[in-house]
Amino acid sequence: MNHPPPSTNLLFPVNTPFAYEKGELTCEATSLTEIATAVGTPFYVYSRAEILARARTLVETAQRVANGQALVCYAVKANANPALVRMLIEAGLGADVTSGGELFLARHAGAAPGKIVFSGVGKQSAEIAEAITWGVRAIHVESEMELAAVGEEAERLGIVASVGVRVNPNIDAATHPYISTGLHGHKFGVPRERAVAMLHFAASHSWLKPVGLAAHIGSQITDLAPFAESVRFLVALADEMKGSGITLEYVDAGGGLGIDYEQAAPDAAKWVRTIGSIISDASYGLVIEPGRSIVGRAGALVTRVVYIKEQGTKRFVITDAGMTDLIRPTLYQAYHPIAPVIETTGLPETVDIVGPICETSDFLARDRSLPRVGKGDLLAILHAGAYGYAMSSNYNGHLRPAEVLVEDDTYRVIRRRQTYETLLAGTE
Ligand code: LLP
Repeated sequence: MNHPPPSTNLLFPVNTPFAYEKGELTCEATSLTEIATAVGTPFYVYSRAEILARARTLVETAQRVANGQALVCYAVKANANPALVRMLIEAGLGADVTSGGELFLARHAGAAPGKIVFSGVGKQSAEIAEAITWGVRAIHVESEMELAAVGEEAERLGIVASVGVRVNPNIDAATHPYISTGLHGHKFGVPRERAVAMLHFAASHSWLKPVGLAAHIGSQITDLAPFAESVRFLVALADEMKGSGITLEYVDAGGGLGIDYEQAAPDAAKWVRTIGSIISDASYGLVIEPGRSIVGRAGALVTRVVYIKEQGTKRFVITDAGMTDLIRPTLYQAYHPIAPVIETTGLPETVDIVGPICETSDFLARDRSLPRVGKGDLLAILHAGAYGYAMSSNYNGHLRPAEVLVEDDTYRVIRRRQTYETLLAGTE
């Protein structure tokens, strides 16, 4: 499946499901040109084999290291396409959800309630009630007020609610500030002393059952040290709770493992072994919430060049996809590898790849070296399987793209492209 990079594109990432076959970029054994012709552009395309391979590695490694006491909850926010979520649930994963909407999607995909954890800083009473009624593994609370709200809903419904407390360990995860979450200046979790008080409150409440401790220190983290530090912190706290008579069932290390957009990233199995051994050596169940590391490298956004334009010192490649399809470059100055779908021998030139949206911030890449492309050519924005479609919008009346799932030499549309009618949905 993997081939040497084409001579004109030395930065082409290896070990992805995307590779050139006879001069044409494919996903597994399916030609991207063929999909573009049939489905139109832009579209997201995902490799089934890649997603399943990543998921299985995580589940198998986690179960091995935790002697069968592991729960791998896919962070649905990374890519909530129902077909992909179902695939992951069928592969044995649970779900980490952040809203009533994601809880609905996880249920729709067939997730067993006991394999769902409910995270998030602002859960509302109606969402909490849905989670309790459905019987999720735990609601991970992030404030005293939220814990009280869970207690009230549990009592009203007459069902004991399992809760975990999300702790803010005050650890710097060295990632983009917008996706760093584990410092006291961030809105997430509660500091250690308050977690202790909250667990005692839960233990003494007739309708609450404290079952776990969780932390999530950020996303796209490429160093294992902060993960290990965070997990040691959680285990020490869980042990302290045990000393005071509250025995927790699991420690949840969160998600956050980075992928190699531009620089090398740790191996997923090594990540699980590093955090999992600390947790299982202390005899707690292991929970992890990976998102990006499962779906990130499995997806690409395929877009067509609409025009080329020279202006000032710049050469702009204008594509039919923009920040409304993939906002990561705009929002986090994120780098995504970009490759022409037809291998070209053109000399590389430095271009800005921009979309049709009326914002200067609408770019997919800036000052990028790319072999010369022209009007009508197809480009693949790689490593776009996570937080791509999931963060898309209809700004500027731009329709959300189609999503396609490839299996070997076949593909199917797993979400149709929106139509103009979508823009009127729910309006007068
Ligand atoms: N668990 C919790 C509580 C989270 O908040 C997140 C991500 C995850 C798990 C999954 O993290 P992952 O394994 O995917 O890194 N939109 C940003 C990423 C935001 C991540 C938010 N929370 C991006 O495009 O980089």
